[in-house]
Amino acid sequence: MKQVIYFKKMIFLFICCVALSCTKSNIRNLSKDDKSHDRNGWFLKRAAQFDMSLAEAEKRDLALSESHPPEYEDEAIKKEAAVLWRDLCSLCHGANGDPKDSLIVEPKPKKFGTLGMKMGFTFGGDKMRSGIYRVIRDGKGERMPAFGKQLAREQMWALVKYIERL
Ligand code: HEC
Repeated sequence: MKQVIYFKKMIFLFICCVALSCTKSNIRNLSKDDKSHDRNGWFLKRAAQFDMSLAEAEKRDLALSESHPPEYEDEAIKKEAAVLWRDLCSLCHGANGDPKDSLIVEPKPKKFGTLGMKMGFTFGGDKMRSGIYRVIRDGKGERMPAFGKQLAREQMWALVKYIERL
């Protein structure tokens, strides 16, 4: 009898996992008309959205901390992260963070969205997040490019969150 209950619990857990993986953020819902922005393009977009000048939009971005992610997050930045991931990252990291089909031979980036990564985010918190942020900003090793000059802080933080949700 105990085994039956155990078995039922396992089935339940399995169904939960499948349901969860179906709701994961992904780039499949994007259309080719969705364009990512460079740093200035992003400031222009935010300036128009928040009815501020370009200089104010840049100031707003530079006021963001580089050691913990901004709390403010709207649909515009979530979508931007998905488009950035598609345009700038998926070629090497895979559409869903699995580099097995990437063009890069060696060294392969590690797989994202694994249990290990999830544990890192859960227990490492902002330390983990700022570590990921720094890799995106400054690059890593021979193959991982630095995006610090190309992207705004808000965009890089959005990518960190995108990776966390993979
Ligand atoms: C030209 C290929 C390439 C592109 C494009 C690329 N990466 Fe990477 N990335 C790599 C490689 C290779 C590594 C592993 C580097 C190492 O460990 O030496 C890596 C490592 C990383 C890591 C660190 C993972 C760890 O080991 O802790 C993060 C985070 C990351 N990339 C995020 C991104 C994001 C976000 C983008 C897009 C904005 C991106 N990468 C674009 C190749 C790439």
